[in-house]
Amino acid sequence: MEELSEVISPGEISEAVRRLGAEINRDYAGRGILALCVLNGSFIFFSDLIRELTLPLEVDFLRARSYSSTESSGEVKVECWLKADIEGKDVLLVEDIVDTGLTLNVIIQRLMAGNPKTLKVCALLDKRAGRKAEINPDYTGFLVDDHFLVGYGLDLDGRHRNIRGVCKVRPPGAEFP
Ligand code: IMP
Repeated sequence: MEELSEVISPGEISEAVRRLGAEINRDYAGRGILALCVLNGSFIFFSDLIRELTLPLEVDFLRARSYSSTESSGEVKVECWLKADIEGKDVLLVEDIVDTGLTLNVIIQRLMAGNPKTLKVCALLDKRAGRKAEINPDYTGFLVDDHFLVGYGLDLDGRHRNIRGVCKVRPPGAEFP
């Protein structure tokens, strides 16, 4: 079994989620937003973030997959698309972590085809060193180093999503860098 080492505590996450919520409330004051949750990894972050929002709010969900174990396959599959009509709406895409940016790139292109009024991205974690597509979240919780992370919704082969903090993973037999 791999070992885990916490890099962001539950308290630090709550503080960041409150800060992000306040920024979004301020920037969209007087408007309503459609918040989109990118499943599966974002479900916990999304649930916490939207409860910080005091704006008129609609939510919807989509599911994308690009990782197998700890590696991005580079091939993005959108497995489930939203139900909402996004035309003319202020859309906020909520993602757990941006690494290569390939997943968001595919999702953003597809969303833009639906003619939203505005489209912004809120990511809890930004692993900038891994970037292959030009994606810069409008709202970022934490810049993180290039380690594989789990917890607070992020998984390794479906496990560890329920850990309250964010942890880096040490594979069996390896040292923590
Ligand atoms: P990207 O397309 O490389 O930017 O990866 C985006 C998706 O890959 C995220 O939504 C996550 O689901 C997954 N992912 C990227 N890095 C990690 C990680 O460190 N731990 C768990 N999942 C990750």
